[in-house]
Amino acid sequence: MKRKVTKAVFPVAGLGTRFLPATKSIPKEIMTLVDRPLIQYAIDEARAAGIKEFIFVTSRGKGALEDYFDHAHELEANLRKAGKEELLEALKDTNMESGAIAYIRQHKALGLGHAVWCARRLIGNEPFAVILPDDVIAAEKPCLQQMVEAHAEVGGNMVAAMEVPPEKASAYGVLDIKDDMGSMVSVKGMVEKPKPDEAPSSLAVIGRYILTPKIMQNLNRMKSGAGGEIQLTDAIADEIKKSGNVYGYRFRGQRFDCGSKAGFLQATVAFGLAREELHDEFKQFLVGMTAMQKAAE
Ligand code: G1P
Repeated sequence: MKRKVTKAVFPVAGLGTRFLPATKSIPKEIMTLVDRPLIQYAIDEARAAGIKEFIFVTSRGKGALEDYFDHAHELEANLRKAGKEELLEALKDTNMESGAIAYIRQHKALGLGHAVWCARRLIGNEPFAVILPDDVIAAEKPCLQQMVEAHAEVGGNMVAAMEVPPEKASAYGVLDIKDDMGSMVSVKGMVEKPKPDEAPSSLAVIGRYILTPKIMQNLNRMKSGAGGEIQLTDAIADEIKKSGNVYGYRFRGQRFDCGSKAGFLQATVAFGLAREELHDEFKQFLVGMTAMQKAAE
């Protein structure tokens, strides 16, 4: 029987320089879409997929992330006294069972592959998920849950995949497709940040992965790749040669690149509109803005 995926790694050591000065004193993963930090969306998605152990790979200056998942006893007591049940409920999602969350430091910024490798002792000999909190995915069924279900059928290594405009492919890991089965593709190669004319397809890797522990062994070699960094993509590509069990999964949902300002703003609008209590007022505002823009043109 295939082993259930119960551990997830969250690489959160990045400096978030694209959001300076905001990220001078707050981790970018604490930046909020409406009223929930990016990391909360990632945790909610992991929980929905059955993840029980949450491994954060952090770095200096990420203390606010650790505090975020602590119980805020005084705050909870005050809310309880004031009968603010709804707010207490909202706080519940931020609480972690003791021992369910672990923080590991990435001491040097050597790349995504290296960050994942830092969690190797906590992963041991089990399959595991990786979630990049910058990629926020709005979906009826959360993306990682879709993947866990597909993975239960095929096993091996699976990456979330999405078609991107060809001129954008060089910003991603890109799949070389062996067989296209619709929602799933089998993969015969993967290239991290290919040169514009060298992308093997326009199917790009998005920040959700289900991986075998062999990936950690591949990362042991510390081979540097695109941008001089140790790339997760390369460690997965190595597995194609060794066991041929790498799949891309075309998830159903809308992905926002919250690592960029434009993507973050788009996500704010989409998640704002999706909130029942904000929808009418916000929509009216947006319609008014659009009309004003048009009139000014
Ligand atoms: C990382 C991965 C890349 C993937 C992307 C998805 O790149 O290395 O393969 O396509 O996330 O967001 P980054 O965006 O960190 O440069």
